Amino acid sequence: MDKKPVIIGISGASGSALAHAAVERILALEWPVIATISPAARMVWRGEMAESFGEAIERWTDTGLFTTYPIGDLAAPIASGTYPVHGMAIVPCSMGTAAAIATGLSDNLMRRAADVALKERNPLVIIPRETPMNAIHLENLAKIARLGATILPPHPAFYLNPQTTADTIDFITHRLLLSLGLTATLPARLQYKPEEEN
Ligand SMILES: Cc1cc2nc3c(=O)[nH]c(=O)nc-3n(C[C@H](O)[C@H](O)[C@H](O)COP(=O)(O)O)c2cc1C
Repeated sequence: MDKKPVIIGISGASGSALAHAAVERILALEWPVIATISPAARMVWRGEMAESFGEAIERWTDTGLFTTYPIGDLAAPIASGTYPVHGMAIVPCSMGTAAAIATGLSDNLMRRAADVALKERNPLVIIPRETPMNAIHLENLAKIARLGATILPPHPAFYLNPQTTADTIDFITHRLLLSLGLTATLPARLQYKPEEEN
């Protein structure tokens, strides 16, 4: 199967562990990843993660399947619709990046790549992180959804009775693989099972 790369944009919302797990899972499928990371994402990562960004990138690069382009590199291949990619996810997506995408403001590589995904009708999955959300956030996300993107909030699957944050990250990253079309089903342990009636 021809595995075209998945673009992962990591923006400056809380939830660096989601970005970390998303890249790990996609690489574990031996699927190539091209990442672009905002300066705010690096700032958030420092406060939330034990492993440094540099160490994670080094480890991912060692797989031979991971490439990263600077956020300011608007001449990177993924800035063009002619470059073959499978799709894109923004994990986590800040409300700033959501606003830029909703208004077509392609002023950095992540925003441009998302704009390209929408115009090329490639899969685009947005994992937004803000709470509570104001009407600007909701309207921007609704606009992106109407353009065909999947909005995947990082909510726990309460019906699975999650015990830890890791459980929720596990659930959301599997949902992400499904939304991107990298897998066909969720693992059985993450599927909803109605209570058997007595
Ligand atoms: C520690 C920290 C946590 C943040 N968490 C969020 C968040 O959860 N959601 C959000 O929309 N913005 C959050 N922000 C604000 C964004 O980082 C800021 O709006 C930034 O300009 C977003 O830029 P980017 O989308 O290019 O990364 C946070 C900032 C910091 C420093």
